[in-house]
Amino acid sequence: MTARTRVTIPRLAEMKAAGEPIVMVTAYDHPSAQVVEKAGVDVVLVGDSAAMVVLGHDSTVPVGMTEMLVLAAAVRRGLTVPLLVGDLPFGSYERSDEQAIENAQRLVKEAGCDAVKIERGGTSVDRARAIVRAGIPVMGHVGLTPQTVGLLGGFKAQGRTAASAARIAAEARALADAGCFALVFEAIPSAVTEILMEQVDVPVIGIGAGPATDGQVLVFHDLLGISTGHTPKFVKRYAEVREAMTTGVAAYAADVRGRVFPGPEHGYPIDPDESAELRRLLDGRPPLPWARSAPG
Ligand code: KIV
Repeated sequence: MTARTRVTIPRLAEMKAAGEPIVMVTAYDHPSAQVVEKAGVDVVLVGDSAAMVVLGHDSTVPVGMTEMLVLAAAVRRGLTVPLLVGDLPFGSYERSDEQAIENAQRLVKEAGCDAVKIERGGTSVDRARAIVRAGIPVMGHVGLTPQTVGLLGGFKAQGRTAASAARIAAEARALADAGCFALVFEAIPSAVTEILMEQVDVPVIGIGAGPATDGQVLVFHDLLGISTGHTPKFVKRYAEVREAMTTGVAAYAADVRGRVFPGPEHGYPIDPDESAELRRLLDGRPPLPWARSAPG
């Protein structure tokens, strides 16, 4: 098998130009990074969706830089080929350009991310420009932006009226003009995406935005069937891993309770002379009353 070359930002632009779909997926730890690397994806996002799918929160808002740095560093250790993007979590970039640059630098320096992602237009456009000027590539994110879901009235599709779609178009253009190398379009009607795609010249990765984008992204736990609860309309499940995990752990529990596990093959051997010597050494120390003798 020929080794794949590392995915770079110019490579993503080439893929867009060539009409080659870009595959992006999230990952939050070392084993999931190894899985997505082996599966041959192009871009890996350490999304702040970690708050919901791995940390048990009911929105992305509570996750902070400390958790994102730990998760992103673990993912970095499992990746070589895909481009690694780290989400700047809610509260880590909005206050000022300085705050945004400082936290973007932490994701790059401490966790090894190749780029960072921020949500929304408005002041985020200024933050994106500042981070890019500081030398760090930025991915923008428009449409349904989970960090400000309160302002949007919940986790629901955006751009369903001409006025709101035009606002998304303006945000997307402003982010691209600020230097974002790519954009995420989330939960936007497919027909709107088709029109918006005529407005931006950087690669666009969609999630719930239809087939017209340059690539697609899904959350690892959603696509593999690990998440519970509400599954967004735009998710396609490619496996039922949670079921397999539950079956595996239940089988282990049954084996332990039935004294089937561990078997002889799972134990370490010792020379019989050594165990005889051990008995001799312990002689005179009777077994404690609750001690069970070894089976067999
Ligand atoms: O946090 C995340 O996982 C994301 C993707 C859904 C794009 O932002």
